[in-house]
Amino acid sequence: MADKVRVGIIGCGFIGVYHARAVQACARAELVAAADSGAAALERFSAQFPGVHTSARVEDLASMSELDGVAIGIPNAFHAPVALRMLKSGKHVLLEKPMAMNAREAEKIAGLARQKRLRLQIGHCWRYDTEVNYLKQVVQGRLPGQDCETKGYGIHMNWGPPAGSPGKPRPGRCFGRHGDPCHRHGFLPAGDPARFPCMPSSAPITAV
Ligand SMILES: NC(=O)c1ccc[n+]([C@@H]2O[C@H](COP(=O)([O-])OP(=O)(O)OC[C@H]3O[C@@H](n4cnc5c(N)ncnc54)[C@H](O)[C@@H]3O)[C@@H](O)[C@H]2O)c1
Repeated sequence: MADKVRVGIIGCGFIGVYHARAVQACARAELVAAADSGAAALERFSAQFPGVHTSARVEDLASMSELDGVAIGIPNAFHAPVALRMLKSGKHVLLEKPMAMNAREAEKIAGLARQKRLRLQIGHCWRYDTEVNYLKQVVQGRLPGQDCETKGYGIHMNWGPPAGSPGKPRPGRCFGRHGDPCHRHGFLPAGDPARFPCMPSSAPITAV
């Protein structure tokens, strides 16, 4: 391996740009190449990261012997085929979450990484957070604590469609309620933080 880890980005959308910035910020890594099937995403990426080799074909990165690893941030359905292709070509892989569409695919990816003795990491970045590690220790019984149920509320500003307009994305607010059996998301029109019309209970929101 060269002095620096030579990294390629697969998927130049929202999360791919974060990975590219992280690679550039790391003194021991070098951003070498990027691939995206979308021409507009590639164009934006090239403008932001000049000098990086870009391609519309993921396959081009698989055949680049000068690449040590790739960060994959593409739609979930493509995670398994693209990760398997990259591992087969000898690349270390950072694969975005969710790892795959089902356990069978995930086991196949993990099995190939083990067999080829390559690094495979999944983009579960919260595992490094102080709060998450504290809770992990509580759950594992290393710190005193007792089970409790919590609810958390959060709003993503300027993301998602407004309420009542499915399929017409515009800047709006996405409201997430964590702690339910499933993690539900609904949408609030910008400027209306008082009620949350998409949830069955329509509970008033007093503190967010
Ligand atoms: N770890 C995190 O916190 C985090 C945050 C956001 C997204 N993600 C994950 O990252 C992945 C991508 O999400 P995003 O928000 O960046 O999406 P995005 O739509 O912004 O970007 C995806 C990019 O992939 C490209 N693409 C689609 N199919 C492709 C293919 N077959 N080959 C090559 N390029 C292809 C698209 O053109 C697009 O530019 C998802 O799996 C998502 O779950 C993780």
